[in-house]
Amino acid sequence: MMNVESAQDPPVQDLPAQDLSEQGLPEQRLLMLRAPSANRVYAAASAPLALREAERVLGAHLGVPVTARVREIAGVEHLELCGRAPRDAMVRVASTLSSAMALFAPVDLAGRELLEPVALADVCRHPSDLETTLRYPGKTNEQFTALLINLASAASERRAGLLDGSLALLDPMCGRGTTLSRALRLGLSPVGADVDKADHDAYRAFLTTWMRTHRLKHTSASTRLTVDGRVLGSRFDAELARDKAAQRAGEVQTLSLLRCDAGELARVLGRGRTDVIVTDLPYGVQHGSHGPDSLDRSPLAALSRVLPVWRELLRRDGAMALAINRRTAPFDQAVARLADAGFTTVSADGEFRHRVDQSIDRDVLVAVRTDHPRAAELREESERAAARPSERIAP
Ligand SMILES: C[S@@+](CC[C@H](N)C(=O)[O-])C[C@H]1O[C@@H](n2cnc3c(N)ncnc32)[C@H](O)[C@@H]1O
Repeated sequence: MMNVESAQDPPVQDLPAQDLSEQGLPEQRLLMLRAPSANRVYAAASAPLALREAERVLGAHLGVPVTARVREIAGVEHLELCGRAPRDAMVRVASTLSSAMALFAPVDLAGRELLEPVALADVCRHPSDLETTLRYPGKTNEQFTALLINLASAASERRAGLLDGSLALLDPMCGRGTTLSRALRLGLSPVGADVDKADHDAYRAFLTTWMRTHRLKHTSASTRLTVDGRVLGSRFDAELARDKAAQRAGEVQTLSLLRCDAGELARVLGRGRTDVIVTDLPYGVQHGSHGPDSLDRSPLAALSRVLPVWRELLRRDGAMALAINRRTAPFDQAVARLADAGFTTVSADGEFRHRVDQSIDRDVLVAVRTDHPRAAELREESERAAARPSERIAP
């Protein structure tokens, strides 16, 4: 549960070693088949986006350089992933990639390359209908949402928490909860906020029905969101476990859904306790953005207003992944707003750019606090990755 807190940032803790690199490990090669919906959603950008996600995410989690390239086999595009890391760890991280559908390992049989199926790791605690059932205009695509979570986690020093359920995730403009549902599937205990009552009520109603339909062990409560005696909005808190056995084993997750302005969150949540902030920012196209007295209708103005608050909430070694519409929030201007608020942007202009429709030209800002222990290194890595041409090889 969240309390109003005014404590200073908690210290950056020593973490269990995550670097899995070992001298002399043989190179592992995996071929990943991407879900066909990835092609439909991102059209031409789907392969480059998957490559960049794979290199960043596998490289960060495994602690070794991993290269990704598109390889066509029997007329079907695969993503070839190469790195000197233990096979199990590589499979586990690859299984979290947003478009992962199937994995194969190439096997040499008397000079002929055959593909051996490799089971994807079971990284999701709940079935996919949690992410896909709710449909509405303005919903963020689920695969793209998974990509945002992966990019933010990769830049956070507590990225291992994505795999063990301990990563603290906040979507401060969560709409009807696509990020929260993905986070729940991954076993996390997310926090979401949205100022819109219809969105809040719709996600609360959906989740309540979903928990009942799936016979999860759960409790939930809707209450007023008050701080210092002032009502800011409302909140919905749920606690859930897959079943009794999971509950006994302590595999209990929580969800907090707040109905309030994203600029008020520092008054509700603890400072420096969030590992990753992941959000699809208002596009400034259909709904505009809500703010006090609806003053900030421009996405850039909204960003400037909320960023100082998000900086307070984010751990020093945490990271953010924000989706922007370049038509209403040009990349360089968004980067400048981030810099003004004390963030370093660690994704390059156009690195994750893709067209959604006529009015939405989407890109991703991955950003860390300027005092993040690896801010400079992440920035350099991103510049190097953006300068590298995406490799594509023939059969
Ligand atoms: C692009 S939508 C997010 C969609 C969401 N990812 C989903 O799949 O449902 C942006 C959201 O930001 C919310 N929003 C805009 N301004 C806000 C503010 N100042 N505080 C909190 N939420 C805000 C809107 O209500 C909208 O739901």
